[in-house]
This record gives sequence, structure tokens and C-alpha cells, in this order.
Amino acid sequence: MRLGNLNRSRPVLLAPLAGVSDRPFRLLAGRAGAALTYTEMVSSEGIIRRQRRTLDLMRFGSDERPIGIQLFGANPEVMCRAARFVAENLNPDLIDINLGCPVKKVVRKSGGAAILKDLALTADLLGAAVDGASPLPVTAKIRTGWDDNSPVYIEVGQIAEKSGVKALTLHARSRAGGYGGEADWSAIKDLKEALGIPVIGNGDVFSASDAGRMFARTGCDAIMIGRAAIRNPLIFGHINHFLQTGALLPEPTARDKMDMALRHAALMAEQYGEERGTVRMRKYLGWYIRGFPGAGKLRPRLLQVDTIDDIRCIFDDYCLTDR
Ligand SMILES: Cc1cc2nc3c(=O)[nH]c(=O)nc-3n(C[C@H](O)[C@H](O)[C@H](O)COP(=O)(O)O)c2cc1C
Repeated sequence: MRLGNLNRSRPVLLAPLAGVSDRPFRLLAGRAGAALTYTEMVSSEGIIRRQRRTLDLMRFGSDERPIGIQLFGANPEVMCRAARFVAENLNPDLIDINLGCPVKKVVRKSGGAAILKDLALTADLLGAAVDGASPLPVTAKIRTGWDDNSPVYIEVGQIAEKSGVKALTLHARSRAGGYGGEADWSAIKDLKEALGIPVIGNGDVFSASDAGRMFARTGCDAIMIGRAAIRNPLIFGHINHFLQTGALLPEPTARDKMDMALRHAALMAEQYGEERGTVRMRKYLGWYIRGFPGAGKLRPRLLQVDTIDDIRCIFDDYCLTDR
């Protein structure tokens, strides 16, 4: 498999991001140049119970392909049924299994990163997902281990490969590592050397030059971007440009970011209606304006917007005000 039929060399993917990577955000990232996008993680239990909110998280349009739907859960039988449902009813380009989520709500039910503590369960869960999803490819996303004293990524990688998983993403931190410190890219290199399947490197790529460095240092087949895309979905275009030409594009200006935010707000309105879409947009607006001079004064106003016009007026005001 070529990572969701991607033929591009050195593809850059949008990470699954709970509460963030919905259809409008995926469209923005895809149009900017992300080679593959993912839904946020979706509960396998919720799928087999046909919970409405869960099913809504998985809807996507054909204009979003290639797309992966990410599932989490700790029960192999449930995972198998959920993967089958997804394959038969939604037919994404791939199904990704989350074995790395550190969030308490997920870990408490033994999902996400908790599975890394139980290698027999890891094998069962991945085997079940591969069976259920067939003929769709299954990929998995892991951290290095439960904590820094128990790295298991090589073993988990080998288990995944044996189970028929087609590519593995490594967020190069342990569960205990949260988002602190630096991601350990040497783990990505080790994993790449140990496995035959493609390895997707993830963790701390915040710029085009970081992306170039991650490819060069680890030999990974693709990279995945999370937090940097939240701040700037156009980063995919910048990275692709850099990887193809070796030249860095200028950083987006405040006006570029405002224009991007307005495009995003329009997609949100299309997806959810203007009222709900604008309310959902408020948190993204906070991210877009990070680092703007005077952002502290702008933020409370943006947290109250109800319409796209409100956003436009606040931005125009900002541009006209001397700071
Ligand atoms: C707001 C947020 C939501 C996330 N949701 C998910 C998720 O649903 N599934 C998942 O596998 N990882 C999730 N992650 C982790 C990211 O996919 C990624 O592994 C992590 O942010 C490291 O990449 P980065 O350094 O590029 O941000 C989330 C991260 C953030 C910041």
C-alpha cells in the first residue's frame, strides 16, 4: 500500500485531532496540500451501538479523499465489528487504530495508549481490526510506550506488521511524556530500520525546515502534523514547497491568517449553518491569532462572535488600529 494510494514522495499528513479535524478543517488542510487527512478518533463501542454523535464524526465527502477514519477501543471483538461497519458503510481509504491516546477518559477504559501495556491485547486488537476492515487497509498510531522506562514501539511495530497493518505512525513520546520535552526522533529512525512497512514520523514538526529535518534524520516514509496545523493549516503548502524546491516561503502575515480564518469560517457555515458554525469557529479564531501583536485584546471579542460578519468587522478593526 502506498499510504492511502499516495504516490507523492515525502507525503505530509494531517494528524487525527479530537475536536479539531472535522470536515471543514480537513478540507482546508487538504486544499493546502496535506496528502491524507484523518477524522478524529472515534469510539468502536459507539459505532457498534450506532450512537448518532459517533456516526456523525465519521462522515466525509468524496472531495476529502484520501481520508482515514481513526478508531479507538480495547475490545477486539468490538473493534472487528466496528471496522467492518466502517468498511462496508463508509469506505474510507484506510482505517487507523489509535494505540497512543494519553487522555484519561480513553485510557481508563483501557483504550489508546493503555493498550501498549499489554502486547497480547495489542496483537488481538490489531488482528481483529485487520479482519473486520478487509479489504480496506488498516494502519495504527502509537506512542513509544506507556512511560519512558518501558519503550515497546519496536515490539508493537513488529506485532503490527505481523498482524497485517500496512503502515505505522509513531508519535515519538511515551504516554507519560504527554506533550512535554522534545519528541525523540531517534525512535522513529529505529522503528523505520526495524520494520518493512512504511513508518510515519510524528512529533514536534512546527515548520517546513523541521519537516525536512525529520525526513532526513529518520528516513521515515511520511510525516504527520498536529499542533502546527491547528495554528496554521497552510503549513502543508509551505512544507511541500520546501521539500520540492529547498526554498522557504515567507511566514504568513496576520492578514494572511485572517483571510484563512474567514475561509475556514465560510466552510464551517456550510457544514453546520452560520450560527452553529460561527460558535464552533470561536476556538479556532483564538488559535489563528496566537502571536498577533495585541492578541490579548482581540481574543475576548472573537470569543463572542455570532456571524461571519462579526469576525470580518473585528479583523478589519484590528487592521485599522495602530498598535
Ligand atoms: C487537540 C488535539 C487532539 C488530538 N486528538 C488525537 C486523536 O483524536 N487521535 C490521535 O491519534 N491523536 C490525537 N492527538 C495527537 C496528535 O495526532 C499528534 O500525535 C500529536 O499532536 C503530536 O504531533 P505534533 O507534535 O505535530 O502536534 C491530538 C492532539 C491534539 C493537540
